[in-house]
Amino acid sequence: MRQFLTLKDLPNLDDAVTESIELKKNPFQFETLGKKKTLGMLFFNPSLRTRLSTQKAAQHLGIHNMIMNFSNEAWALEFEDGTQMNGLRSEHIREAAAVVSQYCDIVAIRAFASLNDKESDEAEKVLQNFAKYASIPVVNMESATAHPLQALADAITIKEHQSKKRPKIVLTWAPHPKALPHAVGNSFIRMTQQLDADFVIAQPEGYELNPAITKKTPLIFNQEEALNDADFVYAKNWSSYSDYGKILRTDPQWMVTSEKMKKTNNAKFMHCLPIRRNIVVSDDVLDSPNSLVIEQANNRTFATQVVLKKILENG
Ligand code: CP
Repeated sequence: MRQFLTLKDLPNLDDAVTESIELKKNPFQFETLGKKKTLGMLFFNPSLRTRLSTQKAAQHLGIHNMIMNFSNEAWALEFEDGTQMNGLRSEHIREAAAVVSQYCDIVAIRAFASLNDKESDEAEKVLQNFAKYASIPVVNMESATAHPLQALADAITIKEHQSKKRPKIVLTWAPHPKALPHAVGNSFIRMTQQLDADFVIAQPEGYELNPAITKKTPLIFNQEEALNDADFVYAKNWSSYSDYGKILRTDPQWMVTSEKMKKTNNAKFMHCLPIRRNIVVSDDVLDSPNSLVIEQANNRTFATQVVLKKILENG
């Protein structure tokens, strides 16, 4: 595998899940594969899980890490060509990507959506420009429109916990006080569409995600109806896609509660974290034995490990 910008870069999702579960049993079995290799991790936004799990995955493979918080430590980057750089941006992406490529063998990047400019966000300015100007493989640690490492970890978690061949999986919108990007929802949808599952999306009207991503996945505007007989409930907030980046409602009626979970088939609860308690989900659901959120976070290590391993194996 040459790079990992989206789930499409994985040769086969099912094989990657199986391989991740094998790596989890013996994380250090390829500890010399990354000897003398360096992974550069560039963060334009905050992180807990992605930062630590990616470091951990690299350690398992013997890869050295370099980390930089671009938002407050690096020179502000210019992405436009032909511009006279007399403003606040001190370094052009052409030089920055070329320089990082000399120090590192792989570069991983986190750069969220602005939620101000749909066209610019969908162009994936930061990620795609690094991919264009870096001479080393690029890994997406959550970009404007995708969080494929999270989705791969979610696929691992579902595989580990599914008790029937074709589970019912519900992705439900949940309230949040801040406008959040679409990346996690987008990648979870793209991943789940590849599973043998009865998959539906529950959301209030106005929160339809990009139809090029949701495709034929059923959209249900009644959360309780959607939760009926669910085996997995994945809660996530996202801002409006059509009224781009806007919060249309913060309706507490969409919070996932234990009353609602009674409608399910004793469903497992999932969320990518961080999560707002008693806004997105009630304490009793999050603290119940059916909550998989901590396991999902653990599986981020093995999802990333399989991605780094495949890139290293490609040479
Ligand atoms: N789920 C996730 O990506 O967590 P962080 O934002 O803390 O990295």
